[in-house]
Amino acid sequence: MLKNRNLLSHPAINIFPDNYHSIGSNFVELQSVDSTNNYAMAAVHAGLAFHGTSYFALEQTAGKGQRGKTWTTTSGENIIMSIITEPRFLLPMQQFFLSATIAISCYDFLTNFFPDEWKIKWPNDLYWRDRKAGGILIESICKGNEWLFAIVGIGININQVQFPDEIKNPVSLKQITGKTMKVEELAKKLCDFIDKRYNELRTSGGDQLLAEYNRFLYKRNETVRLKKGNIIFDTTIKEVNSQGQLITQDAVDRSFGFGEVEWL
Ligand code: BTN
Repeated sequence: MLKNRNLLSHPAINIFPDNYHSIGSNFVELQSVDSTNNYAMAAVHAGLAFHGTSYFALEQTAGKGQRGKTWTTTSGENIIMSIITEPRFLLPMQQFFLSATIAISCYDFLTNFFPDEWKIKWPNDLYWRDRKAGGILIESICKGNEWLFAIVGIGININQVQFPDEIKNPVSLKQITGKTMKVEELAKKLCDFIDKRYNELRTSGGDQLLAEYNRFLYKRNETVRLKKGNIIFDTTIKEVNSQGQLITQDAVDRSFGFGEVEWL
């Protein structure tokens, strides 16, 4: 049943199945919200939601992308979902492990159902060939050195075939496969993939996952053109380290934090 945008009139939130700890076991469908990340964040602050609760929306009126950008999608056509996690077993400084884990989960999901040629573009864009099919925005609640909650927002283009001009190189699964898909069903399946990898992170730590992330890294060992401030340079992508820095090599070894460089 679809719920409306008023959080306090939301009867489903407090009813958790016995296994509510698994991601997606409390799957809440929303008709229209400003941003599922905002909605999930409000639910956490109101004490109404816990690890694994997933908010799926048909429409977002003020979707958020990385680095303060907006995320626009056509109503009902794409996965728009935010998942509440409680990564207390990690320190806030280990946040890239979670970011990599979610990116790998999305990669697992995409390669499981759709033709190959998927990559993860640093830090966590989902790429098919040279086109972006989805993105991830994680927002955290920390207290001192404790990482209490991470709101994992995921947008994946499913059935949309027309995109605004300002979106650079978008692609949807429909454009790749020619098929129209059931968005909500796919979102639930994605939750299962995330749950599996999240448990791997919880039980085995992030090192192995980071190694896998690097195996799926877009343009690894290829030379790309980057821009830092006013300087444009060519450099070879080597890997991403556990702090989430992009490591490249040309005449010198370089490392970049997220937002420090732009791809050209
Ligand atoms: C990016 O810029 O690549 C990240 C996009 C993240 C979009 C998703 S859609 C669901 C969730 N709610 C938001 O407002 N943003 C994320």
